[in-house]
Amino acid sequence: MPTRDSVRRLLRSERWSSVRPSGGIVHLVGARPNLVKAAPVFHELRERLPGTRQVLVHTGQHYDREMSEVFLEELGLPEPDHALGVGSGPHGAQTGRALERIEAVLFEERPNLVVVAGDVNSTLAGALAAAKLLIPVAHIESGLRSFDRTMPEEINRILVDQISAWCFTHSPEATENLLREGVAGERIFFVGNTMIDTLFRLRKRIDASDVHERLGLTRGRYVLTTLHRPRITDGPLLAPVAASLAELSRQLPVVFPVHPRTRARLADAALPPAPDLHLLDPVGYLDFLALEASAAAVVTDSGGVQEETTYLGVPCFTLRENTERPITIQRGTNMLIGLDPRRILEVPSLLARAPVTAETPEGWDGRAAARLADVLVGALGREAESREADGRLFSVAER
Ligand code: UD1
Ligand code: UDP
Repeated sequence: MPTRDSVRRLLRSERWSSVRPSGGIVHLVGARPNLVKAAPVFHELRERLPGTRQVLVHTGQHYDREMSEVFLEELGLPEPDHALGVGSGPHGAQTGRALERIEAVLFEERPNLVVVAGDVNSTLAGALAAAKLLIPVAHIESGLRSFDRTMPEEINRILVDQISAWCFTHSPEATENLLREGVAGERIFFVGNTMIDTLFRLRKRIDASDVHERLGLTRGRYVLTTLHRPRITDGPLLAPVAASLAELSRQLPVVFPVHPRTRARLADAALPPAPDLHLLDPVGYLDFLALEASAAAVVTDSGGVQEETTYLGVPCFTLRENTERPITIQRGTNMLIGLDPRRILEVPSLLARAPVTAETPEGWDGRAAARLADVLVGALGREAESREADGRLFSVAER
């Protein structure tokens, strides 16, 4: 963390004089799950701080209509103020393009604060661009660790948490992980799960979805699946996983909205004929949550879906060897079934064996963004006072 004196020196320097804070807040998003986590915080801060410019910056890491625009619309987010068109590419190129373009936006907007969410490449680029300009970063869903550095997200999480001024956690393990890595306790705030806030906020519209009728599905009588982690999609596992899903669909219909990363590769996987394996384009948030809520089970490698199924009390079988969300196993409905594709065929017998019980984790109550906003609004108020008293200081210098 920069010291108060080092920040003051920088603020007086030539280079820094062009980046005096304007008072606005930048909300940085880029990929589908970011939107679900960031939306309630955007809404809460807009309501609490009507005089403050809330700036939505979308890197364009996800760009297909059904991966982005549908979410902006359904979650009530405005058109992004800055759409950076970063697109796809190898990690370095994608993160690098995002870093450069976000920095340009930060010079233009001069925000007091940048809010980032989750663990995607856009999250790292946003946090890094802001931290280098000494603009404080607030990290939603901080502290998650899979302890598996072969996952690109794990690198992003560790780095973002190290350079964030506020680490907002949603589970006790996340707070412990941060403390173990030497993050100062006063930077860590347990606020709960903003992804679940979105579910709360849109519950009526989710329940009103007619997606089951449109797809000819009976509630409670199908398996919902999603897959997009490179460990499955980018290697030899995809074909046998797809074959197991096809075989499972002979017992229970399988609905599979296919992530674009998976789409092209699945075409090469030569699926056996399976009339009840329904491959769809990615589904919008409201329809997807309706499918999740009434599924007999979910088979996934998604992070967010492990949490939503715990909240919804729907059995979740996670095709991974680890999870950064252990609370979904300890308290929720999640079971790691590893990477052996044959285990997918055990889903019906696992379902029959024992009823799944779940407790809702503390703070997964629809009020996480409100608690998060309490912290930020208080800090911004203190920062404004200190600016009046002794020139311009970003709140990071106070912390
Ligand atoms: C990214 C995140 C991952 C997150 C996931 C959520 C990183 C490192 N990974 O993975 O943590 O779980 O988003 O969905 O940030 N593509 C399209 N259209 C789109 C978006 C992507 O066709 O709108 C295709 C492109 O071929 C692209 C591939 O999907 O190369 C992967 O996209 P990318 O954003 O790089 O990674 P994800 O697998 O989506
Ligand atoms: N989701 C969706 N439609 C889909 C697949 C997922 O609306 O076809 C939602 C899901 O309910 C959750 C978020 O997208 O809210 C999770 O995104 P994803 O699985 O892509 O990313 P992860 O959570 O693994 O990072």
